[in-house]
Amino acid sequence: MVEPIRLLDREDREAALRDAGFNVFALDSADVFVDLLTDSGTGTMSNEQWAAMFTGDEAYAGSDSFRELEAAVRDVMGFERIVPAHQGRGAENVLYGALVDDGDVVLNNAHFDTTRAHVAANGGDPVDCPVPEARDGDSDHPFKGNFDVETAHRVVDDVGAENVPVVVLTITNNSMAGQPASVQNTREVAAFAEEIDATFVIDACRFAENAHFVRRRESEFADESVAAVAREQLSYADACVMSGKKDGLVNVGGFVGLRDDGELYQQCRQRGILFEGFSTYGGMSGRDLAAFAVGLREAVEPPYVAERVAQVEALCEALADRGVPVYQPAGGHAVYVNANEALPHLPREAFPGQAFVCELYREGGVRAVELGRFAFPGTERDDLVRLAVPRRTYGPDHLEHVVDTAAAVCEKGEEVTGYEVVSEPPMPELRHFSAELRPVDPAREPTSPQ
Ligand code: F0G
Repeated sequence: MVEPIRLLDREDREAALRDAGFNVFALDSADVFVDLLTDSGTGTMSNEQWAAMFTGDEAYAGSDSFRELEAAVRDVMGFERIVPAHQGRGAENVLYGALVDDGDVVLNNAHFDTTRAHVAANGGDPVDCPVPEARDGDSDHPFKGNFDVETAHRVVDDVGAENVPVVVLTITNNSMAGQPASVQNTREVAAFAEEIDATFVIDACRFAENAHFVRRRESEFADESVAAVAREQLSYADACVMSGKKDGLVNVGGFVGLRDDGELYQQCRQRGILFEGFSTYGGMSGRDLAAFAVGLREAVEPPYVAERVAQVEALCEALADRGVPVYQPAGGHAVYVNANEALPHLPREAFPGQAFVCELYREGGVRAVELGRFAFPGTERDDLVRLAVPRRTYGPDHLEHVVDTAAAVCEKGEEVTGYEVVSEPPMPELRHFSAELRPVDPAREPTSPQ
Protein backbone atom coordinates (compact mmCIF):
# COMPACT_ATOMS: atom_id res chain seq x y z
CA MET A 1 0.00 0.00 0.00
CA VAL A 2 1.42 3.36 -0.99
CA GLU A 3 0.08 6.64 0.27
CA PRO A 4 1.05 10.18 -0.73
CA ILE A 5 2.52 12.52 1.85
CA ARG A 6 3.14 16.24 1.58
CA LEU A 7 5.17 18.79 3.45
CA LEU A 8 3.11 21.89 4.28
CA ASP A 9 4.97 25.16 4.04
CA ARG A 10 6.33 26.64 7.24
CA GLU A 11 3.51 29.15 7.73
CA ASP A 12 0.85 26.43 7.46
CA ARG A 13 2.76 24.18 9.82
CA GLU A 14 2.93 27.01 12.34
CA ALA A 15 -0.85 27.55 12.02
CA ALA A 16 -1.59 23.82 12.30
CA LEU A 17 0.52 23.58 15.47
CA ARG A 18 -1.23 26.60 17.00
CA ASP A 19 -4.65 25.17 16.12
CA ALA A 20 -3.61 21.89 17.74
CA GLY A 21 -2.93 23.68 21.04
CA PHE A 22 0.76 22.75 20.67
CA ASN A 23 -0.20 19.12 21.21
CA VAL A 24 0.72 16.96 18.21
CA PHE A 25 -2.02 14.42 19.06
CA ALA A 26 -4.44 17.08 17.77
CA LEU A 27 -2.76 17.47 14.37
CA ASP A 28 -4.43 16.06 11.26
CA SER A 29 -2.30 13.28 9.76
CA ALA A 30 -2.65 14.96 6.35
CA ASP A 31 -0.61 17.83 7.80
CA VAL A 32 2.22 15.53 8.92
CA PHE A 33 5.11 14.68 6.58
CA VAL A 34 6.88 11.84 8.42
CA ASP A 35 4.78 10.40 11.23
CA LEU A 36 6.83 8.91 14.06
CA LEU A 37 4.15 9.48 16.71
CA THR A 38 3.87 5.73 17.25
CA ASP A 39 4.74 2.29 15.91
CA SER A 40 1.28 1.15 16.97
CA GLY A 41 -1.11 0.07 14.23
CA THR A 42 0.69 2.25 11.70
CA GLY A 43 2.76 -0.45 9.96
CA THR A 44 2.23 -2.00 6.54
CA MET A 45 0.61 -5.39 6.12
CA SER A 46 2.11 -8.08 3.89
CA ASN A 47 0.55 -9.66 0.79
CA GLU A 48 -0.15 -12.78 2.89
CA GLN A 49 -2.00 -10.72 5.47
CA TRP A 50 -4.12 -9.00 2.83
CA ALA A 51 -4.88 -12.38 1.29
CA ALA A 52 -5.94 -13.71 4.71
CA MET A 53 -8.36 -10.80 5.11
CA PHE A 54 -10.40 -12.11 2.19
CA THR A 55 -10.93 -15.36 4.07
CA GLY A 56 -12.07 -13.66 7.29
CA ASP A 57 -14.97 -15.52 8.91
CA GLU A 58 -17.37 -12.95 10.34
CA ALA A 59 -19.39 -15.40 12.45
CA TYR A 60 -20.32 -13.98 15.86
CA ALA A 61 -19.47 -17.27 17.60
CA GLY A 62 -16.89 -19.92 16.71
CA SER A 63 -15.30 -18.01 13.81
CA ASP A 64 -12.63 -19.90 11.81
CA SER A 65 -10.50 -16.76 11.92
CA PHE A 66 -10.55 -16.87 15.71
CA ARG A 67 -9.34 -20.48 15.61
CA GLU A 68 -6.49 -19.37 13.31
CA LEU A 69 -5.49 -16.68 15.77
CA GLU A 70 -5.69 -19.11 18.71
CA ALA A 71 -3.45 -21.55 16.81
CA ALA A 72 -0.94 -18.82 15.92
CA VAL A 73 -0.74 -17.68 19.57
CA ARG A 74 -0.25 -21.27 20.71
CA ASP A 75 2.51 -21.93 18.14
CA VAL A 76 4.34 -18.59 18.35
CA MET A 77 3.79 -17.54 21.96
CA GLY A 78 2.85 -20.76 23.75
CA PHE A 79 -0.38 -19.59 25.43
CA GLU A 80 -3.15 -22.19 25.26
CA ARG A 81 -6.04 -19.80 25.81
CA ILE A 82 -6.78 -16.27 24.66
CA VAL A 83 -9.39 -13.68 25.49
CA PRO A 84 -9.52 -11.42 22.43
CA ALA A 85 -9.80 -7.65 22.74
CA HIS A 86 -10.03 -4.72 20.35
CA GLN A 87 -6.46 -3.64 21.22
CA GLY A 88 -3.88 -3.84 24.00
CA ARG A 89 -5.60 -1.50 26.43
CA GLY A 90 -8.83 -3.49 26.08
CA ALA A 91 -6.83 -6.55 27.12
CA GLU A 92 -5.34 -4.55 30.00
CA ASN A 93 -8.80 -3.62 31.20
CA VAL A 94 -9.89 -7.26 31.03
CA LEU A 95 -6.84 -8.61 32.89
CA TYR A 96 -6.02 -5.89 35.41
CA GLY A 97 -9.71 -5.46 36.23
CA ALA A 98 -9.73 -9.15 37.20
CA LEU A 99 -6.48 -9.03 39.21
CA VAL A 100 -6.23 -5.60 40.86
CA ASP A 101 -8.27 -4.27 43.79
CA ASP A 102 -8.33 -1.02 45.75
CA GLY A 103 -5.06 -0.40 47.57
CA ASP A 104 -3.06 -3.05 45.66
CA VAL A 105 0.41 -2.36 44.33
CA VAL A 106 1.44 -3.49 40.84
CA LEU A 107 5.15 -3.83 40.09
CA ASN A 108 6.48 -3.42 36.53
CA ASN A 109 9.93 -2.76 35.03
CA ALA A 110 8.10 0.37 33.81
CA HIS A 111 4.40 0.87 33.23
CA PHE A 112 3.42 2.22 29.84
CA ASP A 113 0.88 5.07 30.00
CA THR A 114 -2.21 2.96 29.35
CA THR A 115 -1.00 0.22 31.74
CA ARG A 116 -0.41 2.79 34.47
CA ALA A 117 -3.89 4.22 33.81
CA HIS A 118 -5.60 0.80 33.97
CA VAL A 119 -3.85 -0.12 37.22
CA ALA A 120 -4.84 3.27 38.68
CA ALA A 121 -8.42 3.02 37.34
CA ASN A 122 -8.80 -0.26 39.29
CA GLY A 123 -7.65 1.41 42.51
CA GLY A 124 -4.07 0.10 42.30
CA ASP A 125 -0.77 1.87 42.70
CA PRO A 126 1.59 1.30 39.74
CA VAL A 127 5.22 1.15 40.91
CA ASP A 128 8.13 1.04 38.45
CA CYS A 129 11.19 -1.12 39.17
CA PRO A 130 13.66 -0.42 36.35
CA VAL A 131 17.33 -1.35 36.72
CA PRO A 132 19.47 1.73 37.53
CA GLU A 133 21.15 1.57 34.08
CA ALA A 134 17.76 2.24 32.45
CA ARG A 135 18.02 5.90 33.35
CA ASP A 136 21.51 6.21 31.91
CA GLY A 137 21.40 6.90 28.18
CA ASP A 138 25.16 6.36 27.90
CA SER A 139 25.51 3.02 29.69
CA ASP A 140 26.16 0.14 27.30
CA HIS A 141 24.40 -2.44 29.51
CA PRO A 142 22.85 -4.90 27.03
CA PHE A 143 19.52 -5.24 28.88
CA LYS A 144 18.51 -1.85 30.22
CA GLY A 145 14.89 -3.01 30.05
CA ASN A 146 15.43 -5.47 32.91
CA PHE A 147 13.25 -5.52 36.02
CA ASP A 148 15.11 -4.72 39.24
CA VAL A 149 14.17 -7.51 41.61
CA GLU A 150 16.02 -5.83 44.52
CA THR A 151 13.84 -2.72 44.28
CA ALA A 152 10.77 -4.93 44.03
CA HIS A 153 11.77 -6.77 47.23
CA ARG A 154 12.07 -3.44 49.04
CA VAL A 155 8.58 -2.41 47.90
CA VAL A 156 7.17 -5.75 49.07
CA ASP A 157 8.88 -5.38 52.47
CA ASP A 158 7.21 -2.02 52.73
CA VAL A 159 3.65 -2.76 51.59
CA GLY A 160 3.35 -6.49 52.33
CA ALA A 161 3.28 -9.33 49.79
CA GLU A 162 -0.48 -9.74 50.26
CA ASN A 163 -0.96 -6.31 48.65
CA VAL A 164 1.05 -7.14 45.50
CA PRO A 165 -1.15 -9.37 43.35
CA VAL A 166 0.61 -8.75 40.03
CA VAL A 167 4.18 -8.44 38.76
CA VAL A 168 4.61 -7.30 35.15
CA LEU A 169 7.58 -7.45 32.79
CA THR A 170 7.18 -5.22 29.74
CA ILE A 171 9.19 -6.45 26.74
CA THR A 172 10.63 -4.36 25.24
CA ASN A 173 10.35 -1.66 27.89
CA ASN A 174 8.57 1.08 25.95
CA SER A 175 8.67 3.84 28.55
CA MET A 176 12.35 3.11 29.26
CA ALA A 177 13.60 3.82 25.74
CA GLY A 178 12.40 0.55 24.19
CA GLN A 179 15.19 -1.44 25.86
CA PRO A 180 15.05 -5.24 26.01
CA ALA A 181 14.80 -7.54 29.04
CA SER A 182 16.90 -10.72 29.12
CA VAL A 183 15.58 -14.24 29.52
CA GLN A 184 17.74 -14.59 32.64
CA ASN A 185 15.95 -11.56 34.12
CA THR A 186 12.61 -13.05 33.09
CA ARG A 187 13.46 -16.19 35.08
CA GLU A 188 14.37 -14.09 38.11
CA VAL A 189 11.15 -12.10 37.92
CA ALA A 190 9.14 -15.31 37.58
CA ALA A 191 10.83 -16.72 40.70
CA PHE A 192 10.19 -13.49 42.59
CA ALA A 193 6.51 -13.47 41.59
CA GLU A 194 6.18 -17.07 42.72
CA GLU A 195 7.85 -16.28 46.03
CA ILE A 196 5.31 -13.55 46.81
CA ASP A 197 2.44 -15.55 45.30
CA ALA A 198 1.69 -12.93 42.63
CA THR A 199 0.53 -13.48 39.05
CA PHE A 200 3.42 -12.96 36.63
CA VAL A 201 2.27 -11.08 33.52
CA ILE A 202 4.41 -10.31 30.48
CA ASP A 203 3.36 -7.27 28.46
CA ALA A 204 4.30 -8.91 25.18
CA CYS A 205 3.49 -6.06 22.74
CA ARG A 206 7.05 -6.15 21.31
CA PHE A 207 8.02 -9.74 22.18
CA ALA A 208 9.62 -10.49 18.79
CA GLU A 209 11.88 -7.43 18.84
CA ASN A 210 12.87 -8.36 22.39
CA ALA A 211 13.67 -11.93 21.27
CA HIS A 212 15.88 -10.56 18.50
CA PHE A 213 17.93 -8.62 21.09
CA VAL A 214 18.18 -11.68 23.34
CA ARG A 215 19.58 -13.74 20.46
CA ARG A 216 22.18 -11.09 19.78
CA ARG A 217 23.13 -10.16 23.35
CA GLU A 218 22.53 -13.13 25.66
CA SER A 219 25.17 -15.78 24.95
CA GLU A 220 22.97 -18.71 26.01
CA PHE A 221 20.70 -17.96 23.03
CA ALA A 222 23.21 -17.08 20.31
CA ASP A 223 22.37 -20.21 18.30
CA GLU A 224 18.60 -20.11 18.83
CA SER A 225 16.00 -18.76 16.43
CA VAL A 226 13.96 -15.65 17.27
CA ALA A 227 10.90 -17.91 17.41
CA ALA A 228 12.56 -20.27 19.93
CA VAL A 229 13.73 -17.39 22.14
CA ALA A 230 10.27 -15.80 22.09
CA ARG A 231 8.64 -19.05 23.19
CA GLU A 232 11.23 -19.60 25.91
CA GLN A 233 10.89 -16.08 27.32
CA LEU A 234 7.10 -16.13 27.32
CA SER A 235 7.01 -19.61 28.87
CA TYR A 236 7.80 -18.17 32.31
CA ALA A 237 4.69 -15.98 32.48
CA ASP A 238 1.30 -16.93 33.91
CA ALA A 239 -0.40 -14.58 31.47
CA CYS A 240 0.39 -12.03 28.80
CA VAL A 241 -1.17 -8.86 27.49
CA MET A 242 -0.75 -8.33 23.77
CA SER A 243 -1.41 -5.46 21.41
CA GLY A 244 -1.54 -6.75 17.83
CA LYS A 245 -0.77 -3.21 16.69
CA LYS A 246 2.91 -3.77 17.49
CA ASP A 247 4.45 -7.20 16.93
CA GLY A 248 1.16 -8.60 15.62
CA LEU A 249 1.83 -6.49 12.50
CA VAL A 250 -1.80 -5.41 12.22
CA ASN A 251 -3.68 -2.14 12.42
CA VAL A 252 -5.90 -3.15 15.31
CA GLY A 253 -6.39 -6.03 17.76
CA GLY A 254 -5.17 -7.55 21.01
CA PHE A 255 -5.70 -10.29 23.57
CA VAL A 256 -4.97 -11.65 27.01
CA GLY A 257 -2.99 -14.90 26.77
CA LEU A 258 -3.48 -17.53 29.49
CA ARG A 259 -2.08 -20.97 30.25
CA ASP A 260 -5.32 -22.91 30.74
CA ASP A 261 -9.05 -22.50 31.20
CA GLY A 262 -8.78 -22.10 34.98
CA GLU A 263 -10.25 -19.41 37.18
CA LEU A 264 -8.33 -16.46 35.76
CA TYR A 265 -9.36 -17.39 32.23
CA GLN A 266 -13.00 -17.70 33.28
CA GLN A 267 -12.91 -14.30 34.99
CA CYS A 268 -11.20 -12.65 32.01
CA ARG A 269 -13.59 -14.31 29.61
CA GLN A 270 -16.61 -12.82 31.38
CA ARG A 271 -14.99 -9.37 31.52
CA GLY A 272 -14.11 -9.75 27.83
CA ILE A 273 -17.74 -10.45 26.92
CA LEU A 274 -18.83 -7.43 28.96
CA PHE A 275 -16.32 -4.91 27.61
CA GLU A 276 -14.92 -6.23 24.31
CA GLY A 277 -17.34 -8.61 22.63
CA PHE A 278 -18.06 -12.33 22.59
CA SER A 279 -15.05 -14.55 23.34
CA THR A 280 -14.40 -15.54 19.72
CA TYR A 281 -14.01 -12.01 18.35
CA GLY A 282 -13.49 -9.53 21.21
CA GLY A 283 -14.01 -6.32 19.27
CA MET A 284 -12.17 -7.47 16.14
CA SER A 285 -13.78 -8.34 12.82
CA GLY A 286 -13.08 -11.78 11.33
CA ARG A 287 -10.79 -10.06 8.82
CA ASP A 288 -8.77 -8.49 11.65
CA LEU A 289 -8.42 -11.87 13.37
CA ALA A 290 -7.22 -13.52 10.15
CA ALA A 291 -4.59 -10.85 9.41
CA PHE A 292 -3.42 -10.94 13.04
CA ALA A 293 -2.90 -14.73 12.88
CA VAL A 294 -0.60 -14.30 9.87
CA GLY A 295 1.15 -11.24 11.32
CA LEU A 296 2.16 -13.05 14.52
CA ARG A 297 3.93 -15.74 12.49
CA GLU A 298 5.66 -13.14 10.29
CA ALA A 299 6.87 -11.16 13.31
CA VAL A 300 9.32 -13.91 14.32
CA GLU A 301 10.74 -14.46 10.82
CA PRO A 302 14.46 -13.65 11.07
CA PRO A 303 14.82 -11.46 7.92
CA TYR A 304 11.88 -9.29 8.92
CA VAL A 305 12.81 -8.66 12.53
CA ALA A 306 16.55 -8.21 11.84
CA GLU A 307 15.87 -5.62 9.15
CA ARG A 308 13.29 -3.85 11.32
CA VAL A 309 15.59 -3.42 14.31
CA ALA A 310 18.53 -2.51 12.05
CA GLN A 311 16.52 0.35 10.55
CA VAL A 312 15.90 1.80 14.01
CA GLU A 313 19.58 1.37 14.90
CA ALA A 314 20.65 3.14 11.69
CA LEU A 315 18.37 6.08 12.53
CA CYS A 316 19.89 6.27 16.01
CA GLU A 317 23.46 6.27 14.66
CA ALA A 318 22.69 8.88 12.00
CA LEU A 319 21.18 11.18 14.65
CA ALA A 320 24.16 10.68 16.97
CA ASP A 321 26.55 11.47 14.10
CA ARG A 322 24.79 14.80 13.62
CA GLY A 323 25.13 15.69 17.31
CA VAL A 324 21.55 14.92 18.38
CA PRO A 325 21.71 13.59 21.97
CA VAL A 326 20.10 10.17 21.64
CA TYR A 327 19.61 7.48 24.25
CA GLN A 328 22.03 4.61 23.49
CA PRO A 329 21.70 1.89 22.46
CA ALA A 330 18.65 2.32 20.23
CA GLY A 331 15.40 0.69 21.31
CA GLY A 332 13.74 -1.99 19.21
CA HIS A 333 10.94 0.18 17.87
CA ALA A 334 12.11 3.73 18.47
CA VAL A 335 14.93 6.17 19.02
CA TYR A 336 14.68 8.37 22.10
CA VAL A 337 16.16 11.88 22.14
CA ASN A 338 17.14 13.40 25.49
CA ALA A 339 15.57 16.87 25.35
CA ASN A 340 17.28 17.98 28.59
CA GLU A 341 20.58 17.62 26.77
CA ALA A 342 19.30 18.96 23.44
CA LEU A 343 17.71 22.09 24.97
CA PRO A 344 19.67 22.66 28.20
CA HIS A 345 18.50 26.28 28.46
CA LEU A 346 14.91 25.16 29.20
CA PRO A 347 14.03 24.45 32.84
CA ARG A 348 12.25 21.17 33.43
CA GLU A 349 8.96 22.96 34.30
CA ALA A 350 8.92 24.35 30.75
CA PHE A 351 8.60 20.85 29.23
CA PRO A 352 11.76 20.68 27.09
CA GLY A 353 10.56 17.36 25.63
CA GLN A 354 7.34 18.91 24.38
CA ALA A 355 9.32 21.91 23.11
CA PHE A 356 11.51 19.54 21.06
CA VAL A 357 8.40 17.76 19.71
CA CYS A 358 6.77 21.05 18.64
CA GLU A 359 9.99 22.21 17.02
CA LEU A 360 10.38 18.97 15.02
CA TYR A 361 6.98 19.63 13.52
CA ARG A 362 7.63 23.33 12.88
CA GLU A 363 10.99 22.63 11.34
CA GLY A 364 10.20 19.62 9.12
CA GLY A 365 6.63 18.38 9.55
CA VAL A 366 7.93 15.44 11.62
CA ARG A 367 5.61 14.15 14.35
CA ALA A 368 7.16 12.53 17.44
CA VAL A 369 5.87 12.08 20.98
CA GLU A 370 7.02 13.33 24.37
CA LEU A 371 7.61 10.57 26.91
CA GLY A 372 9.04 12.70 29.70
CA ARG A 373 7.36 14.66 32.43
CA PHE A 374 4.58 15.95 30.23
CA ALA A 375 3.38 12.37 29.55
CA PHE A 376 4.33 11.05 33.01
CA PRO A 377 3.49 13.86 35.45
CA GLY A 378 4.99 13.66 38.89
CA THR A 379 7.88 11.37 37.90
CA GLU A 380 11.58 12.16 37.96
CA ARG A 381 12.32 10.81 34.51
CA ASP A 382 14.37 12.53 31.84
CA ASP A 383 12.43 14.46 29.24
CA LEU A 384 12.67 11.93 26.44
CA VAL A 385 11.24 12.41 22.96
CA ARG A 386 10.37 9.20 21.17
CA LEU A 387 10.80 8.79 17.42
CA ALA A 388 8.84 5.57 16.86
CA VAL A 389 9.36 3.85 13.52
CA PRO A 390 6.27 2.18 12.00
CA ARG A 391 6.99 -1.35 10.77
CA ARG A 392 7.68 -1.92 7.04
CA THR A 393 6.64 1.64 6.16
CA TYR A 394 9.35 4.27 5.72
CA GLY A 395 12.53 4.14 3.64
CA PRO A 396 15.97 5.77 3.97
CA ASP A 397 14.88 9.10 2.41
CA HIS A 398 12.17 9.61 5.01
CA LEU A 399 14.55 8.88 7.84
CA GLU A 400 17.21 11.15 6.35
CA HIS A 401 14.64 13.95 6.46
CA VAL A 402 14.03 13.15 10.14
CA VAL A 403 17.76 13.32 10.88
CA ASP A 404 18.11 16.68 9.07
CA THR A 405 15.09 18.04 10.95
CA ALA A 406 16.27 16.91 14.40
CA ALA A 407 19.75 18.29 13.74
CA ALA A 408 18.20 21.64 12.72
CA VAL A 409 16.21 21.75 15.99
CA CYS A 410 19.39 21.18 18.00
CA GLU A 411 21.12 23.94 16.06
CA LYS A 412 18.33 26.39 16.92
CA GLY A 413 19.31 25.92 20.56
CA GLU A 414 18.20 28.84 22.73
CA GLU A 415 15.74 30.14 20.14
CA VAL A 416 13.45 27.25 21.15
CA THR A 417 10.87 28.35 23.73
CA GLY A 418 9.37 26.26 26.52
CA TYR A 419 5.67 25.56 27.09
CA GLU A 420 3.05 25.68 29.78
CA VAL A 421 -0.14 23.67 30.12
CA VAL A 422 -3.33 25.73 29.74
CA SER A 423 -5.86 22.92 30.09
CA GLU A 424 -5.61 19.26 30.98
CA PRO A 425 -7.97 16.31 31.54
CA PRO A 426 -8.77 15.11 35.09
CA MET A 427 -6.74 11.88 34.88
CA PRO A 428 -3.04 12.78 35.05
CA GLU A 429 -2.00 9.47 33.44
CA LEU A 430 -3.77 10.58 30.24
CA ARG A 431 -2.64 14.23 30.21
CA HIS A 432 -0.49 14.19 27.06
CA PHE A 433 -3.25 12.87 24.80
CA SER A 434 -5.51 15.88 25.15
CA ALA A 435 -3.91 18.72 27.15
CA GLU A 436 -3.51 22.11 25.49
CA LEU A 437 -0.35 24.14 25.86
CA ARG A 438 1.05 27.51 24.94
CA PRO A 439 4.59 28.73 24.44
CA VAL A 440 6.08 30.41 27.47
CA ASP A 441 6.96 33.99 26.80
CA PRO A 442 10.75 33.84 26.89
CA ALA A 443 10.76 37.23 28.61
CA ARG A 444 9.17 35.88 31.79
CA GLU A 445 9.61 32.91 34.06
CA PRO A 446 7.41 29.88 33.31
CA THR A 447 4.52 29.57 35.73
CA SER A 448 3.21 26.11 34.93
CA PRO A 449 3.30 23.75 37.92
CA GLN A 450 4.24 20.12 37.22
N1 F0G B 1 1.55 -1.91 26.55
C1 F0G B 1 2.58 -1.30 25.93
C2 F0G B 1 4.00 -1.60 26.35
C3 F0G B 1 2.34 -0.38 24.89
O1 F0G B 1 3.37 0.21 24.29
C4 F0G B 1 1.00 -0.12 24.51
C5 F0G B 1 0.70 0.83 23.46
C6 F0G B 1 -0.03 -0.80 25.16
C7 F0G B 1 0.29 -1.69 26.19
C8 F0G B 1 -1.48 -0.59 24.80
O2 F0G B 1 -1.76 -1.14 23.55
O3 F0G B 1 -2.30 0.77 22.02
O4 F0G B 1 -3.07 -1.53 21.52
O5 F0G B 1 -4.08 -0.25 23.35
N2 F0G B 1 1.53 1.62 22.99
C9 F0G B 1 1.34 2.56 21.88
C10 F0G B 1 2.57 3.43 21.76
C11 F0G B 1 0.08 3.32 21.91
O6 F0G B 1 2.51 4.44 21.05
O7 F0G B 1 3.59 3.10 22.35
P1 F0G B 1 -2.86 -0.50 22.56
